[in-house]
Amino acid sequence: MNFYIMTLFPEMIEQGAGNSIIGRALARGILSLEAVNIRDYTKDKHRKVDDYPYGGGAGMLMQAQPVYDCWQAIAEKIKEKRGKEDGPETRVVYLTPQGKTFHQEMAKEFAKEEDIIFLCGHYEGIDERVLEEIVTDRVSIGDYVLTGGELPALVMVDAIARLVPGVLSNEESAGEETFYNDLLEYPQYSRPEQWHGKNAPEILLSGNHKKIREWRLEQSEYRTKQIRPDLYEKYALRKKWMEKLIKKNKALYADMSECLNRGQGELLYAEEDGGVLWDRKADVYMLAAFSQAAAEKIVDQIPDRISEGQFILHEEWLLPPMEKRFQITEKMMCQRAVYNRGVSLPQSKELEIRQLDISWLSAVLAHYHLGSKEYVEERLSEGAVFGAFVEGNLAGFMGEHIEGSLGMLEVFEEYRRKGIAAELESYMINRQLSKGYLPYGDVIVGNEASLKLQRKLGLKVSKEIYCWAIVSNVGVPGE
Ligand code: ADE
Repeated sequence: MNFYIMTLFPEMIEQGAGNSIIGRALARGILSLEAVNIRDYTKDKHRKVDDYPYGGGAGMLMQAQPVYDCWQAIAEKIKEKRGKEDGPETRVVYLTPQGKTFHQEMAKEFAKEEDIIFLCGHYEGIDERVLEEIVTDRVSIGDYVLTGGELPALVMVDAIARLVPGVLSNEESAGEETFYNDLLEYPQYSRPEQWHGKNAPEILLSGNHKKIREWRLEQSEYRTKQIRPDLYEKYALRKKWMEKLIKKNKALYADMSECLNRGQGELLYAEEDGGVLWDRKADVYMLAAFSQAAAEKIVDQIPDRISEGQFILHEEWLLPPMEKRFQITEKMMCQRAVYNRGVSLPQSKELEIRQLDISWLSAVLAHYHLGSKEYVEERLSEGAVFGAFVEGNLAGFMGEHIEGSLGMLEVFEEYRRKGIAAELESYMINRQLSKGYLPYGDVIVGNEASLKLQRKLGLKVSKEIYCWAIVSNVGVPGE
């Protein structure tokens, strides 16, 4: 990702961004950052960039000309780099206390851009006419006034950059942390066990991961309730709704409750008559309408801007209003298999199962046909696919889909009927259990071999049939 910062104080940006994790990513070329001096573009012979505001008032205003010319030079450079005339318009973020307040979701949205331009104001602001022409987003970092946009730009660069794949190492990764679940992070402790007469909480030294998880959640809930009641309210709504789904039909709604449980879901609508959940990681919309009468209203809750994508329709009566609104290009009818027992499944010691890295891409693609190359690539780089090896040879694999279900199960012809599928699935179930997840999968209706395997391993299979609906040509994650 490339950051361009229009500023009167380039050294402030360079000094602020050159260190730590962002500095490391810049050095490795995962990010680039260029501070461009607006003053270099002024046509004034005294290098002046500001003037008095018309109508009077305190202070000086940055003039339109140097800002516009500076932006044009950057825009040209981006165009040249991309090597073609058009392409998406590069977003220009103007840092101003009059903007929308910056937050984590916004950082995630910006992190998807390839190039982004920041415009730092100074003095009393910038001539409105140039802002109207070039700015796409006005952003404030909080309700206070700073002397310029440089510090806010650095704050945004930091928050956005750490979400760009490869910037954080695995250990630093942005998984379970403040704001991912509408909860503040729990307190953390490191060596020594006792410091200033205070002991680290005993439970953290117990090695009991389930208990540790419960303790951390409790602490997070307590902190959030005390410090950020607004966030806690959002969290409590989510939790209440999740419990409601589980009570209604644990198997059928396992995808929705787990999406919330794993912190990758956002409830767009959650009422007595049903709900719409957006899985932001997988970009899938999950719909539940608890009665036929509610179906149309539930479909209406899908944001207007959505014209294509993937949807999970948990009740059959959602199909007619969905078909009225969208042209569904593909439907896949499924039954849900869920592992309710909570205890690890036995594993044979003989079979070697290990994580597959990206070097296995062609081997996996040769056997898996339900997802695109890009999808398999993404799953492998996430470390979500595991292979079974017999005498050093890959005999089959299984993975975790992006929305969290177990699937992608393939055992190669010559290794079938040896119990390898059961071993792979047991391994994946145990792995999810250790993370505090409820393991589940989608079984395509009529896949008798899969149903048999699910039952053999003790998974409960829902009677209800739900529908994966694809609008347009977006790939199907698969079974
Ligand atoms: N410029 C001055 N104050 C600011 C703030 N709070 N956020 C963004 N830009 C600013």
